[in-house]
Amino acid sequence: MRVFRGVKDLGDLDGALREAFEIKADRFKYHDLGRNKTALLIFFNNSLRTRLSTQKAAMNLGMNVIVLDVNQGAWKLETERGVVMDGDKSEHLLEAIPVMGCYCDVIGVRSFARFESREDDYNEKILNQFIQYSGRPVFFMESATVHPLQSFADLITIEEYKECKRPKVVMTWAPHPKALPQAVPNSFAEWMNAADVDFVITHPEGYELDPQFVGGARVEYDQMKAMEGADFVYAKNWSCPGVTRPEDYGKVLNMDRSWTVGARQMAVTNNARFMHCLPVRRNMIVTDEVIESPRSVVIPEAANREISATVVLKRMLESL
Ligand code: CP
Repeated sequence: MRVFRGVKDLGDLDGALREAFEIKADRFKYHDLGRNKTALLIFFNNSLRTRLSTQKAAMNLGMNVIVLDVNQGAWKLETERGVVMDGDKSEHLLEAIPVMGCYCDVIGVRSFARFESREDDYNEKILNQFIQYSGRPVFFMESATVHPLQSFADLITIEEYKECKRPKVVMTWAPHPKALPQAVPNSFAEWMNAADVDFVITHPEGYELDPQFVGGARVEYDQMKAMEGADFVYAKNWSCPGVTRPEDYGKVLNMDRSWTVGARQMAVTNNARFMHCLPVRRNMIVTDEVIESPRSVVIPEAANREISATVVLKRMLESL
């Protein structure tokens, strides 16, 4: 696997899940695979889980790891071609990327949506340059539009906790004071559409996700109706994707706290498991009561980030 950005990159999803559970049972099984190989993890944005779980995954495979926080200690990078670099940016991404590629065997990149241009974000302008110019396999550690390592971990968690063959999974928008990207809900929708689940998306009007990710999923604007009989509730905020009104891209249109997932919503579910990718703002996205309940699986979900990253890195090492 030379690029990991979406569910299709894994090929057979059942096979990938079997591999995940094999690794979960013995996470050092492939420890010799990464001997003398180096993973470079590049962060343009903050992280706790992705940073730690991906390092741990690389160590499970016997790899060396280098972590670069671009905004702390590296030269400030210009990303636009054709710019006269007479400002505060000392290095261009077009030199920096191939240089980074010289020091490693695989590259992971985190670069969030910038909300300056929907076109640039949805064309994955930064990540595509890493794919084009690094000369290395590249995996997405949350890009402008997708967060595949998270969604793979989410799917592993659903497989572990499901109590029926084809569970009902509801992804609900929830309020948040700041504009957040659509990467997590985009990927979650993409992965749930590929999995054997009954998938429903609920959000206020104006928050329609890009059709390439929604696919054939049912969209229900009445949150309480969507929640009925749910086996899993996946809460997430996202800012306006700008599908129906491009001028609203990246804006916060709604702060309605009646959408906060609490006892009222969970009461109409099938005793659902509660999921969130974390970090989460309590009593905005979800109440203390729900996230602390025995039905909350947010911690095992985060733990599965190590497993999803180990599978992905293993497959990249196998492609070298
Ligand atoms: N869920 C997730 O990606 O967490 P971090 O932003 O802390 O890496």
